[in-house]
This record gives sequence, C-alpha cells and structure tokens, in this order.
Amino acid sequence: MKYRWLAVLPVVIAAVVMAVSLSEPKQAVTPKPDVRTGSIVVGPYVQPAGTDLTRSLNVVWWSDELKESRIAWSFEGSSRGGTSLSVQEPYEGWYRHSVRIDRPKGAGDTIQLLMGGKVPTGLKIRFLPERGEAFRFAATGDIGAGTDGQRAVAEQMLKNDVRLVLVPGDIVYGSGTWNEYNRNFHPYYKDLMRSAVFAPVLGNHDPVAKSNMGGPYRRVFTPPANWNPYPNEGRYVIEGVRANNTSGPVLPTEETLRNYSFDVGYVHFLCIDSTADKATLEKLIVPWAKLDLESAKQHGAKWIIAQWHHPPYTRGAYRDNSRQLQEIRDTLVPLAREGGVRVVLNGHDHNYQHMEKDGIHYIVTGAGGAKLYDVKPDYTGYGQPPLLGWNDKVHSFTMFDLSPDGKTLKVAQIAQDGTELDTFTLTAS
Ligand SMILES: [Fe+2]
Repeated sequence: MKYRWLAVLPVVIAAVVMAVSLSEPKQAVTPKPDVRTGSIVVGPYVQPAGTDLTRSLNVVWWSDELKESRIAWSFEGSSRGGTSLSVQEPYEGWYRHSVRIDRPKGAGDTIQLLMGGKVPTGLKIRFLPERGEAFRFAATGDIGAGTDGQRAVAEQMLKNDVRLVLVPGDIVYGSGTWNEYNRNFHPYYKDLMRSAVFAPVLGNHDPVAKSNMGGPYRRVFTPPANWNPYPNEGRYVIEGVRANNTSGPVLPTEETLRNYSFDVGYVHFLCIDSTADKATLEKLIVPWAKLDLESAKQHGAKWIIAQWHHPPYTRGAYRDNSRQLQEIRDTLVPLAREGGVRVVLNGHDHNYQHMEKDGIHYIVTGAGGAKLYDVKPDYTGYGQPPLLGWNDKVHSFTMFDLSPDGKTLKVAQIAQDGTELDTFTLTAS
C-alpha cells in the first residue's frame, strides 16, 4: 500500500511533459534572416537552371540532415542580390538542395554566395560568358575511375579556368551508382564544380545498374529539360529500351534529362544519349535534335557543338565494334552533317583522336581518367576519315577558346601535366 502512488506516476509524468512542450516557443514558420545550410556533405556546385547559362544557374548542395536551408547572394560591384530557401529532395539518406539564381539584365557576371556550415562565406559563382566575351570550355569523357590521371586532369582544368566541362559519357565507373559518385566523382571535381558548370551525357557505364535507373545522374546534375520530340502532340512518353537492354523502359521524366541542349553566347551545345537503341535514335531523338538545331541557327548561334558517348569513327579499342557504331553512323552522323554541327565530341574509346569528315571535326576525348586504350593510327576500316592528331599515352582533356567576336575557336588537347599535345584552330563559317 505504501507505494500505491506509483501506479499514477506515468500519468503525472505525461501531464508534466505535455505542459512543458506546450509552453515551449513554437518553431518560427517564416525563415530567419540568417544564413543556414545544415551540415553539408557535397557541394555547393553550379549547374544549369535553364537553356541559357549566361543568365540562369542552379546552386546545388547535399546535407546529411533535413534542415531548412537558406542562402544569400549579391552581385559583385552592385547592391543587387537575393536570398532563397533551397528546394529539398531526400535521396539515399541525404538531402539534395538546389536554389535557382537568375542574373538580372545589367547585373555583373559574378555573385558572392553566402552560406553557413562548413562552406566558407564569400564563395564566388560566375555566370557563363555572353556574346562579345572570351569563352574557355573543356571536354573530357570516361572520367570517374578514381585514378591519379583523373585527378591530374581535373587539376589542369581548374588551373586553366575552364568555365564549362562537357562530359561525353562514362561519368562514373563501373555502373553509375550513388556510392560510385561519392567515391569516384565528387572528391575529384569538388573544386572545379564551383567554378565550372558540368554538362554530361550518359555512357554505357552510367545507366546499367538495374537498381538506380540513372537516378544518381538525375540528381547530381540538373540538365535543362528542353527535350520535346513531339512539340505539336505534347507527347513525351516513349517506350524506348536502352541499347544494353539491362535497365528496362526509359521513364518519360528520365528521357527528358538524357537529351538536351543549351546556349553559351555564340555556342549552341547539343547533348545526345547514344545509349538509346536505334529506333529511339531514329524516331525520337534525331527529329527532336533537327528542330533544336534549326532553332539554334535562327537565334544566331555561330557554333554548334554536339556530344554523345559512342564515336562513329575510332581507331582505338572499339574500332571493330561495327554494329553499335554503325547505328551511330546511320543516325547521328547525318544529323550532324545536315544540322550544321562543326565539332562532335565522343568518348567510349579511352584516348584522344581528332578526325575530320564533311567539315565536321570528330574528337574522341575519352582520356579523362579511365585506363587508356591503344590507338592503331593506320587502321582503315568502316570509312574512317584521316587521323589528324592522336594520343594514347597520357590522360588528357580538350580545351576550347572562343574569341570574343565568336569568329575563331582554338582547340587544344591538354595532357595531365599541362603539356599541349595537339592544337588546331577553326573559323566560324
Ligand atoms: Fe569508358
């Protein structure tokens, strides 16, 4: 009887807890003006927020806890700026944040980004150069293998202050999973991705894991969703199956981000998913791309540069892979020829090769990090155009310098130690 009061103890405790919680100040509904980001695990880095990279960018970062995140920015040399809460998406136990930043007319190209957490304040982000400004960009494929060569190439791109990095496929090995991105991609490019916008397409290694269906790709990157194969029918749904036949049907939203285009000043970039099967290429991708290139020319693009993974011509390890590469020659080569493409960038073969055919410069730039493959320079199969330059000994990337008037494009292949392996200059037609 002495301890009978113990029977009511839980009720008493519950009442006290309830009273305390009711008396606690409620969480503010509106965000505080201070800059908070939670605990950042990846980023921040810049990505496209539309098809004109001189005007709109996304800032993307990842945190390991769900927390209201806000960043602020100011345009250098002016009183303009803004502040925004991030859009958050949970993924694989982390949270992806993104904030779109638009550059108002007349504003400078550089913003100071203010964030809390582990990121130093004063981080600068630059919009890409407009017409009338010099523009340096890079291309390098077959990259995320976790090698010293990959790291050296990344450092060279950073040192050369490239503003855009095209990645013509095989972004991470072996199958494009989230863990592989965190092991073989982010640690190598985290500095570069703050100053350069990465614009990749999928290679045969990227979408093959059945479990992810290209999910990490769609979350690490924010390519513009301007794919619309049937503009008059409003039809996005396709039943395409990838050429490797391992991942099942392609979801409409997924397809949207696999083929896209964007502009930087005088240059129009067309990004194609060559892992699609021939029917998808013929019936959907090529008709869309034709309309896209027509529109680019009407808008005054002086240069059209296309990238996709599988090279139509190669003297490397895939020189005899006739079926798949024949499909590319049947579908994408006529598209490039008729659409006014001046430069085609490919990977797949892990080396550097430069060829020219019908006024198009075909560059295999697959020496970005994965194990290198030999080039057989005297190979003549499958209508190979003459080999104008090549290297299979060192990791490297392709660097482009567009003159401010948009008339000349200098192309150079830069080795992992900074040496210029090859160079040629093109003039706008
Ligand atoms: Fe590869």
